[in-house]
Amino acid sequence: MSKVIAIGNYSEADLAKLKETFDPVFLAETTEIDSLDEATRAGITAAGFKGHKPFGAEAMDLLPNLGVIANFGVGYDSINVAAASERDIRVTNTPDVLNDDVADLAVAMLLMCGREMEHASQWARSGSWAEKGEYRLNRKVSGGRAGILGLGRIGREIAERLVPFKMDLHYWSRSEKETPGWTYHDSPEALAAAVDYLIVATVGGKATENIVSKEVLEALGSRGILVNISRGSTVDEEALIAALKSGGIYGAGLDVFVNEPKIDARFYEFDNVVIQPHQGSGTVETRAAMAKLQRDNISAFLAGNDLLTPVN
Ligand code: 8YV
Repeated sequence: MSKVIAIGNYSEADLAKLKETFDPVFLAETTEIDSLDEATRAGITAAGFKGHKPFGAEAMDLLPNLGVIANFGVGYDSINVAAASERDIRVTNTPDVLNDDVADLAVAMLLMCGREMEHASQWARSGSWAEKGEYRLNRKVSGGRAGILGLGRIGREIAERLVPFKMDLHYWSRSEKETPGWTYHDSPEALAAAVDYLIVATVGGKATENIVSKEVLEALGSRGILVNISRGSTVDEEALIAALKSGGIYGAGLDVFVNEPKIDARFYEFDNVVIQPHQGSGTVETRAAMAKLQRDNISAFLAGNDLLTPVN
């Protein structure tokens, strides 16, 4: 009987590797756990989890001998870690291996927004370039003031990429960090007021819900560009849509949304919004590295070894 359950939507390559390594029970979602018979559920000691729907206490209780939940992703806000700890279930994630791709996408969205690249591309493709002439002038991005909201591993990678863009760097984090002279602000509002570009790289979850509030967007102002590669929950979307509508901010680059993938359709109306389908870590190379780290955490647990990247 299998000791491992793999929950989520895995690529063909990942499915094959999981099968070869653990021959797990595969399920699409945690809500399907109760379809397994009692003996199968009791045999499970390790879970691989991929997805953004909740993995809560109820699902954990259906697996009475579960010892580890290995998350596919650095963000583990879908997993109720407090409930896991209460049940002596360890949680692991996949940090670091995705930093480059997520930081690349953040910078790309900032450039796309400032340089109006989607709109300009459309101008060329639609024949307007040939018929009507040069595309309109847009916005210089290099040399601006950039604020990183959450200077963790990914936030730092973003900041480092912006240095060669001759940017003046600012940040907010729960505590002041050692940096090469980047300016620390003690609140998200103060950070937003000091910069042209606000890039959100905090963790998700309750603690950061709507951290980009109406007040933060007002402080960012009409020349401000918001970039979010963290979680949709960090931004007050009503306030953002209102600010985009009124010209309260200049534009936004968004990889993550509340209720994704069924995002608020009002975002589609703005041509100063770059929309990406939560694909920050979505390259073949990085997803393979994340999958391997997830499997390695499961293997470590099954062998009784130290977990590679524990969360609790
Ligand atoms: C997801 C992510 O893991 O790492 C994270 O926190 O949000 C992504 O990389 C990916 O979408 C697979 O669910």
